[in-house]
Amino acid sequence: MRAIVFERNGGPEVLELKEVPAPDPVDGEVLVDVEAIGVNYRDVYERDGGGYGSAPPAIIGVEGAGTIHDTGERVGWAHLAGSYAEQIAAPAARLVPLPDGVSTEVAAAALLQGMTAYYLAADSYPIAAGDWVLVHAAAGGVGLLLTQIAKWRGGRVIATTSTEEKASLARGAGADEVIGYERFADRAKEITDGEGVAAIYDGVGKATFLDGFKALGPAGRMILYGAASGRPDPIDPGMLVAGSWYVQRPTLGTYTRTPELLQERARALFELIESGKLDIRIGARYPLAQARQAHEDLEARKTTGKIVLTP
Ligand SMILES: NC(=O)c1ccc[n+]([C@@H]2O[C@H](COP(=O)([O-])OP(=O)(O)OC[C@H]3O[C@@H](n4cnc5c(N)ncnc54)[C@H](OP(=O)(O)O)[C@@H]3O)[C@@H](O)[C@H]2O)c1
Repeated sequence: MRAIVFERNGGPEVLELKEVPAPDPVDGEVLVDVEAIGVNYRDVYERDGGGYGSAPPAIIGVEGAGTIHDTGERVGWAHLAGSYAEQIAAPAARLVPLPDGVSTEVAAAALLQGMTAYYLAADSYPIAAGDWVLVHAAAGGVGLLLTQIAKWRGGRVIATTSTEEKASLARGAGADEVIGYERFADRAKEITDGEGVAAIYDGVGKATFLDGFKALGPAGRMILYGAASGRPDPIDPGMLVAGSWYVQRPTLGTYTRTPELLQERARALFELIESGKLDIRIGARYPLAQARQAHEDLEARKTTGKIVLTP
C-alpha cells in the first residue's frame, strides 16, 4: 500500500510517498480501508519532532475514516498513529461507528477538531449564555467549529484572524466581533466594556499567550490548547493573582481516554452535525501524494477550516 512516511524529523520536505507493506492486524485489531484522512496541526509538530507523536521512521497522522475491510462497516478515528495511508490496522476499541447522516469524508474532517471544540466549550470552560469568549485563529479547523459551538451555547465570540477572507469565514460561523492580532487584548477589553472575557481559547501559543491575560476578566480561564506559532514562554503562577485566573493546557486524549468516553464524545459531535447545528467546512482536499503541499499550506496560514487527504 501507499503511505506518507517521514524517515527523519524536519520540514514538509521530509514527507515522502512510499510503497510499504500492508498492515497486519494483531489481536483486537481490524484492517480498515482508509477513504479520507484528516490533516491536523499536530501532524506538523509530529513531523518537526520534539517528542510529539511517532518517532521516525513512521507513517504520519492520526485521523481518518473508512470501511472495515472484512465487514464493510463505516468507521472513523481520531487517535491512531499511521493514518496517512491507504490502510490501517486499528484497535477496534478506538474506532467509532459512523451514523448514516455523516459521510466518511465529513467524519475524517470532524472527529479530532470537532471533539476538541466540543470539550473546549463544554468542559475546559463551560460557556454559558451571554459569556464573552475570545477564540484565536477562528477561521482554522478548530476555530470555526469552536465559534459555532460557542454560539450554539449562547456565548458571544470575539474572534481573531489574519486576513479579510478568514474574517468573513469567522463571521459566517457566528462570531460577534472579528479582529486582527494587533492589539487584540486591548480591543477585547474595549468590546467587553472593560470587563474582559470569561475565557480565552488559544491554539496559537507564543504569539498570543502572554498578551491574552490583559483581556481576561475576573476569574477568567486561559485555555492554551495548542501552539501553532511556537511554545509560549513560561509564566510565574504568582501573576495569576491579578485576576484570580485559571490556566489550562488540555488535550483531547484526556477527554477520550476510555473507549466509553470516546464513543460518547463522538456521538455528541455526530448529533450536532446531523441536526445541522455544526457545519464542517472542508477548506481544501489534496490527494494523499500531495501531503507535503498540504503541510506547506497549513504552516503558511493559507488554509481555512479542515484539510482532507484522499488516498
Ligand atoms: N489540545 C487539543 O486537544 C488540540 C486538538 C486539536 C488541535 N489543537 C491545536 O489547535 C490549534 C489549531 O489546530 P488546527 O489543526 O485546527 O489548525 P488550524 O487552526 O487550521 O491552523 C492553524 C492556524 O493558526 C493560526 N496561526 C497563528 N499564528 C500562526 C503561525 N505562526 N503559524 C501557523 N499558524 C498560525 C493561523 O490562522 P490565522 O492566519 O487566522 O492566524 C492558522 O491557520 C493548533 O495549535 C493545534 O495544535 C489542540
